[in-house]
Amino acid sequence: MTQCTELWVDRADPRRTTVVTRPVPAPGQGEVLVAIDKFGLTSNNVSYAVTGDLIGYWGYYPAEDNWGKVPVWGCAEVVASGCDQVPVGDRLWGFFPMASHAILQPGKVREDQFVDVAAHRQALPALYNGYRRTRAEPAFLQDMEVERCLLFPLLATSWLIYDFLVDNDFFGAGQVLIGSVSSKTGAGLAELLHADPQVSQRVIGLTSPGNVAYVERLGCCDEVVAYGQEQRIDAAVPAAYVDMSGDARLTATLHRLLGANMVNSAMVGATHWEQRGETGDLPGAKPTFFFAPAQIGKRDAQWGPGAAMAKAMAASAQVAQKWQGELAVEWIRDVDGLAALWRQLLDNEIAPSRGLMVSLL
Ligand SMILES: NC(=O)c1ccc[n+]([C@@H]2O[C@H](COP(=O)([O-])OP(=O)(O)OC[C@H]3O[C@@H](n4cnc5c(N)ncnc54)[C@H](OP(=O)(O)O)[C@@H]3O)[C@@H](O)[C@H]2O)c1
Repeated sequence: MTQCTELWVDRADPRRTTVVTRPVPAPGQGEVLVAIDKFGLTSNNVSYAVTGDLIGYWGYYPAEDNWGKVPVWGCAEVVASGCDQVPVGDRLWGFFPMASHAILQPGKVREDQFVDVAAHRQALPALYNGYRRTRAEPAFLQDMEVERCLLFPLLATSWLIYDFLVDNDFFGAGQVLIGSVSSKTGAGLAELLHADPQVSQRVIGLTSPGNVAYVERLGCCDEVVAYGQEQRIDAAVPAAYVDMSGDARLTATLHRLLGANMVNSAMVGATHWEQRGETGDLPGAKPTFFFAPAQIGKRDAQWGPGAAMAKAMAASAQVAQKWQGELAVEWIRDVDGLAALWRQLLDNEIAPSRGLMVSLL
């Protein structure tokens, strides 16, 4: 293929997109050209877009004017190399643009990973500059490319939140409330808590009425509560809230219901990206951003570098295997189809049981 195809998103209006095609670039000295043969698409990518300026997600693959390239988790193959240590044929897993090709600049190269050391990426969150060289990995992981694109970055976060709650003795809570539990990140957290015999806390998932049956089928919650039915939650039991929705009204409702019994409130996601907003002062624990790198850093200091992420990846593989058959993987192989699905994702028109995989090659 001689053309590189990319989908760009208007940074001020994520529903506006444009397709950009150009000749495939040649790698310079020290760079590699990769062909991105697959990437996953979920609400997490919408969050990257809506917090792109705040957190810096637009900075990894800069576009022009007010356009941005939304990052995605994908697998790619090195198809041209100006870097001796990363030859043609190497396979990678990491952070890519919604595109058929990209240029990377490997540094700190090890057998199993490298870091993109391009100058424009150095001030950005370091987590996303790492690329796994997957040919160095166990065969079972090499066989899980779809799951890695679609689930691992989310389930690794689920595990880190699970570990954060366990590490803090659930802040004294007797129940864990999970907002937007039908999301992969939310359901993954519910699954990890529910499956752990050491965890006695009840797991209560909150979701849209239309997604209750899906979550019940996953069997990861003690109780599934539809939005609007929050009064069913026992407010006498101290609760830790983990929010994937970012929905200010839901947060306020739960805090007012639980009062001082809301003993911890972790803000993780914003699937309800158009319902975000200020909550003002609320009863109970102050809602606080969950910062995954802090939990990784704490555990790395205790367990050794890389240990927390290794556990998170192992847990991701387990949950992904358990969910086989629950997620219907669909392939999108054209950029107009991708643009249409991107808008459907923004408009909450993608059922949680659908797993969207894309290839623009
Ligand atoms: N902070 C971190 O480190 C981190 C890491 C990973 C993920 N996250 C966040 O966790 C959240 C979940 O991500 P995911 O990829 O797991 O999600 P996902 O599986 O794509 O979530 C799908 C669910 O999100 C809700 N939803 C999706 N689009 C919506 C819309 N436009 N309006 C209202 N609700 C919508 C619906 O759930 P309900 O009906 O159940 O609400 C839907 O079933 C994202 O916001 C993501 O950024 C954060």
